[in-house]
Amino acid sequence: MSLVYLNGQFLSADKACISPDDRGYYFADGVYEVIKYYKGHPFCMDDHLARLQNSLASVRINFNSLAEIEVICNRLIVNNGLQSEYAGIYLQITRGVAPRIHRFPPKSITPSVYIRSFVMPVSLNELVNGIRVITREDIRWLRCNIKSISLLPNTLLFQEAVDEDAGECFLIRDGMYTEASHSNIMAVMNGMVYTHPDSNLILSGITKKAVIRICRVAGINMVEKPIKASETGNFEECFITGTGSEIMPVVSIDNKPVGNGLPGRVTRQLQKELFRITYQELAGEEIYSIFADS
Ligand code: PDD
Repeated sequence: MSLVYLNGQFLSADKACISPDDRGYYFADGVYEVIKYYKGHPFCMDDHLARLQNSLASVRINFNSLAEIEVICNRLIVNNGLQSEYAGIYLQITRGVAPRIHRFPPKSITPSVYIRSFVMPVSLNELVNGIRVITREDIRWLRCNIKSISLLPNTLLFQEAVDEDAGECFLIRDGMYTEASHSNIMAVMNGMVYTHPDSNLILSGITKKAVIRICRVAGINMVEKPIKASETGNFEECFITGTGSEIMPVVSIDNKPVGNGLPGRVTRQLQKELFRITYQELAGEEIYSIFADS
């Protein structure tokens, strides 16, 4: 049975209990992060912690122990025997346990903290061959920059993709692609990589940020500018970015091929650059070679 962290204690997952009066349970009143570990090495831990701090501040949860979080995550990875694996950390902080009243509980209530680790296998087939996606209207709230645990719209939208055997659901608001149900969207047109700028309409993805850095270093033209849904037919390439998705090629949108229907050149180049950092430098693995000659 795996070890989890709950409110100051490391304990076996089957012994971890929360109160039904937790505000996360009543109101989805909490925030979360998902962090990938490449054979014991976290990817962009500082960025995840900074985003967590922003999310907490945005929803006015007072949590002063952020410095301890990294130590707890590392300990879970080691104690659960995941230091030689591709693994993930899920961590969530809710406002705490209090009677179900909308107003915030007194300041004496401490936030509830739950952290668990899990195996995060590499989706090699999809990374090589790409995924199909569907599009839907973005029905979410207007503070998508907060990594809130309130994900019912996201799960409903992703399930629609699953029901159509697709790998993601792209979201459209006012004629523009915002992001996908659990990843950011990037498209290549005239050799330029486009993605939605950070705003209240999208989550500021850690992987998105890493891809922007890679573009700068590699001299790939990139601009953070909303992509019109009406431009879909002009996409030369498309891909999603995310902690789980990494850089995942998108080969068809609503059953219409993107470009020639195969992962594109820029997408491959970005995959190679990212995987050199993650799989090679962090994990010391040769997965990078899969893409080296493609
Ligand atoms: N999802 N946009 C949304 C709505 C997301 O939920 C995610 C991540 C991203 C990508 O962000 P990042 O690169 O920081 O993982 C964008 C996580 C992994 C999840 O909910 O499981």
